Amino acid sequence: MSNQSREWVSRSLASVWHPCTQMQHHETTPLIPVSHGRGAWLYDHDGRRYLDAISSWWVNLFGHANPRINAALRDQLEKLEHAMLAGFTHEPVIELSERLSAATNHHLGHAFYASDGASAVEIALKMSFHSWRNRGRNEKQEFVCLQGSYHGETIGALAVTDVALFKDAYGPLLRAAQTVMSPDARQAVDGETAQDVARRAAGDVERLFQQKSEKIAAIIIEPLVQCAAGMAMHDPLYLQLVRELCDRYGVHLILDEIAVGCGRTGTFFACEQAGVRPDFLTLSKGISGGYLPLSVVLSTDDVYQAFYSADVTRGFLHSHSYTGNPLACRAALATLDIFREDDVLAANQSLADRITTALAPLRGHARVKHFRQRGMIWAFDATDVDNTFSRRFFANATQNELLLRPIGSTVYLMPPYILTDDDVHVLADRTLAVFEQTIAG
Ligand SMILES: Cc1ncc(COP(=O)(O)O)c(C=O)c1O
Repeated sequence: MSNQSREWVSRSLASVWHPCTQMQHHETTPLIPVSHGRGAWLYDHDGRRYLDAISSWWVNLFGHANPRINAALRDQLEKLEHAMLAGFTHEPVIELSERLSAATNHHLGHAFYASDGASAVEIALKMSFHSWRNRGRNEKQEFVCLQGSYHGETIGALAVTDVALFKDAYGPLLRAAQTVMSPDARQAVDGETAQDVARRAAGDVERLFQQKSEKIAAIIIEPLVQCAAGMAMHDPLYLQLVRELCDRYGVHLILDEIAVGCGRTGTFFACEQAGVRPDFLTLSKGISGGYLPLSVVLSTDDVYQAFYSADVTRGFLHSHSYTGNPLACRAALATLDIFREDDVLAANQSLADRITTALAPLRGHARVKHFRQRGMIWAFDATDVDNTFSRRFFANATQNELLLRPIGSTVYLMPPYILTDDDVHVLADRTLAVFEQTIAG
């Protein structure tokens, strides 16, 4: 490492508290100071490059320093960087809301904005509870989440998250949620199919609703892929069955598409594959192309009408300073333009096929189980590895020009949608090489 890089690292370690990190680990695992990004690649100050195979925590869709998003942002910078959204409005937020509504066939026609995913989850939970309350159903105060669910790190979002590592320390601060069986297809036993697992998991929801649906405001689900749980994938049937149960028992369905939305699973919204519509849909991450913090909660007219009143206290009095930030909305509009102009969902199908083909040696590897794919997400579980696997894999990957961070023993790929054929080969060949190096110890 050059002296310049060393200096950035020591200044960062002295002053920046890095996310999701035991800072002491940086005594042995080097921090990488990024100088710039281009396309799918990040570059450090010493000219080394890293293929961003997890889209910088699943946010980047069309590459770093994308010329089209850059141009839109430059244009917006000269017009309006920010204006508060209470009492005022502006073109980017209006256009974005209209286009998102149209993307749901106007079923989810009311867009409420925040900055990060966890804030969107908080909003959806509060809106669900408050809309029931406004309708005289004050007893509906509980939320249901899935085993292995992940919805963010704020106190409310963590309450509906089921990842012990993130949650346990804060247990005393959290309001308990009901946890139901995950529909994770890996749980199939005795010749069960993924659909059988989905039916079994929906049965668990039904039992809970039978017991106490009058107390339950909403169930929150990451549709098709529970990402932070280790890319646990389920059959779309699960979403259909839960939607029916929500209708039958009067419970809101919140679909958290923060990670799986924006084309990640093959359709623009994951729930399209099940043909279901939620009462609330949360989006963030990819919606701004990975440029700026933006999240949004889309809700139905039915929910919206529960708040519409002359009485101020029946309104949804939630706010964030940067709600509907024009720059972030403009980045989102540029992102949606790319989807349309480049027919991205169709192009991703052939890109995904090429990546799956290139990953064939891993699929058949003796130390790999549950190789799985949906849209632009690939994952597999390493067998017989210890709990240092993930950190060792990450370190070996960076030595091989790859940015990959396994979750426990699950290696996953969630690359941007703009990989070239060369990138695909680097991705597949190096992932295999790094995997073999890491399992060898
Ligand atoms: C499904 C899901 N919901 C919510 C969040 C939280 O989003 P943020 O990290 O922007 O708060 C994440 C983040 O990974 C997520 O994957």
